[in-house]
Amino acid sequence: MEEIKVFGKTGASKIILDDSLNRLPYLIPKTPVFVITDDHVKVHWSKFFPNAPVFVMQAGESSKTIDAAIEICRWLTTQGADRSSFILGFGGGVVCDMTGFVASIYMRGINFGYVPTSLLAQIDAAIGGKTGVNLDGYKNMIGTFRQPAFVLIDPRTLNTLPDIEFRNGLAEAVKHCLIADRDMFFEMMQHAESILKRDRDLVKKLIKHSVQVKANIVNLDEQETGERRKLNLGHTWGHAVEKVLKIPHGQAVSVGLVFAANLSEQKGLLKKNERVEIIKLLKSLELPTKTPSQEKTIYESIIKDKKKEGDTIHFVFMKGIGQAEVIPIPVTELTSGIQ
Ligand SMILES: NC(=O)c1ccc[n+]([C@@H]2O[C@H](COP(=O)([O-])OP(=O)(O)OC[C@H]3O[C@@H](n4cnc5c(N)ncnc54)[C@H](O)[C@@H]3O)[C@@H](O)[C@H]2O)c1
Repeated sequence: MEEIKVFGKTGASKIILDDSLNRLPYLIPKTPVFVITDDHVKVHWSKFFPNAPVFVMQAGESSKTIDAAIEICRWLTTQGADRSSFILGFGGGVVCDMTGFVASIYMRGINFGYVPTSLLAQIDAAIGGKTGVNLDGYKNMIGTFRQPAFVLIDPRTLNTLPDIEFRNGLAEAVKHCLIADRDMFFEMMQHAESILKRDRDLVKKLIKHSVQVKANIVNLDEQETGERRKLNLGHTWGHAVEKVLKIPHGQAVSVGLVFAANLSEQKGLLKKNERVEIIKLLKSLELPTKTPSQEKTIYESIIKDKKKEGDTIHFVFMKGIGQAEVIPIPVTELTSGIQ
């Protein structure tokens, strides 16, 4: 068992990496518990749910809305949940974002924890206390910072995760390497084939690595006023691609990483051969590297994105492989990343 801590203003979060969901009952407090999951995860993993009322969301990004959050709050009310209650989010990134958001607004905030079941949620969405729902298609326009009491990561839950969803999670693992660990980037490159085959030890190592990278950054800047902005690498373009083209988050991030690599090379921060290596790694992980269509619409949607501040945007550049730098640029400069 490994344990990594995240310290936030709303409390500390214990991230436990363990091959055993049997630990779950010992983590849940002895107060009324309510479970939030989705219809895919429930099919495979309900036998590990605590004996508690369960709200089953329809799987997918389209469920991550304020209306759905209100529906869950209403359900909690009818179930008699109060300030002492505990909410457990058991599922992928959508379930985690939704659970954290509901837990942070219901009765001005109640305790919660996660069992993330997608690779993307295990290495990213469940870590760091950012919660959010989409508004009119714009990603995470309404949200909070609130740390879960615990995150229990059992990599065996990935056994039922479809391959495409597994690959989507790898995009965020590449992002973490690009931000903070050149060596791990090349290790991913060397073992791409085995990673795709889900080699147990490699997958565990990747999860641990990503959690540690993210925890280190969040511990420096929980509320994203500085260092944490680096975690948005690939997300300026990626979120807009996700919104416009309705492709999964991980795939949009992959395309967004290439976009960021293009701009970084143009700014003289990334060498051409490094950009080529990044594309090579993403391709070998069977992730997309080209924006499929509608670049103009995607660009226009960034103009409305929440990260835009006036006419400038805090864009995350790559400073070689393994380092990132946030530089405010005129939003118009983004057009030169389109290829
Ligand atoms: N809060 C954050 O810091 C943060 C960071 C990164 C991403 N996110 C959010 O995470 C979301 C993406 O997460 P995701 O890719 O997990 O999406 P998701 O939750 O939609 O899960 C993807 C699919 O996999 C299924 N699934 C999950 N676990 C499974 C399992 N073990 N077996 C079978 N099927 C399983 C789900 O039902 C769904 O169909 C996005 O909304 C993104 O904005 C949040």
